[in-house]
Amino acid sequence: MKKLVVLISGNGSNLQSILDACADGRINGSVAAVFSNKATAFGLTRARAAGVPAHALAASDFPDRDAFDRQLMQEIDAFAPDLVVLAGYMRILSSAFVAHYQDRLLNIHPSLLPKYPGLHTHRQALANGDDEHGTSVHFVTDELDGGPVVLQAKVPVFADDSEEAITARVQHQEHAIYPLVINWFVEGRLAMREGKAWLDNQPLPPQGYAHD
Ligand code: GRF
Repeated sequence: MKKLVVLISGNGSNLQSILDACADGRINGSVAAVFSNKATAFGLTRARAAGVPAHALAASDFPDRDAFDRQLMQEIDAFAPDLVVLAGYMRILSSAFVAHYQDRLLNIHPSLLPKYPGLHTHRQALANGDDEHGTSVHFVTDELDGGPVVLQAKVPVFADDSEEAITARVQHQEHAIYPLVINWFVEGRLAMREGKAWLDNQPLPPQGYAHD
C-alpha cells in the first residue's frame, strides 16, 4: 500500500477528504503522517482523530528556511512516503525541499492556473468580475504555483457572490478532485516526467484535464 505524507497549515478540510478517501478505498493508500508549520492547525486534530501521527514544527525554532526544511525533510523521510501532498500548506518551500521530492510532490491551488498564482485568489476573481473560477491540482516545481497542472475544476461566479460563498464552492470541488488525482498517482497512472504531467502515458495539456 502506497504511503502519503500530508503537509497543512490550517483547517485541513482537504486533508479530511484525503483521510476519508483512504478509509473508504477511493485512495488505494494511507496517510502515514501529517506535518504542520502551525501548532494550532485544526488539521492536526483531524489527523489524530483518524489515528495518524501529526507533528508541528515552528519556524521560530530555526535560523532560516533551509534549516526548517532540512528538519522537515528528515522527519518526513522517516515515514518513507511515496508521495508528499501539500494541502493548504502556507509556507514557501526551499529549492532543496522541492528538489528532494521532485516528481512526487502535489499541491492544490484555489484558482484556474496559470491565473492567480499566490494569495487571495477568490478576492481577485470577484474583483475582476470573472464569471468562472476554480481550483487546480498540480505537481510542484520551483516556480510558485507554476508546476504542471493535472486537473482543474471550474465553478461559476455569480453577480452577488461573497468571498465566503465562492470559497465554499471552490472547496467543495477540491474535496472531490484532490483524492481522485492522488489515487491516479498511487495507482501508477499519473507521473511527472520531462517537466510535464503524464496520465496513462499521455502528456496532459498545459491546463491538465478540464473537469467541469
Ligand atoms: C484550499 O482552498 C487550498 O486550495 C489552498 O488552501 C486551502 C486549504 O484549505 N491551498 P483546508 O485547510 O484544506 O481546509
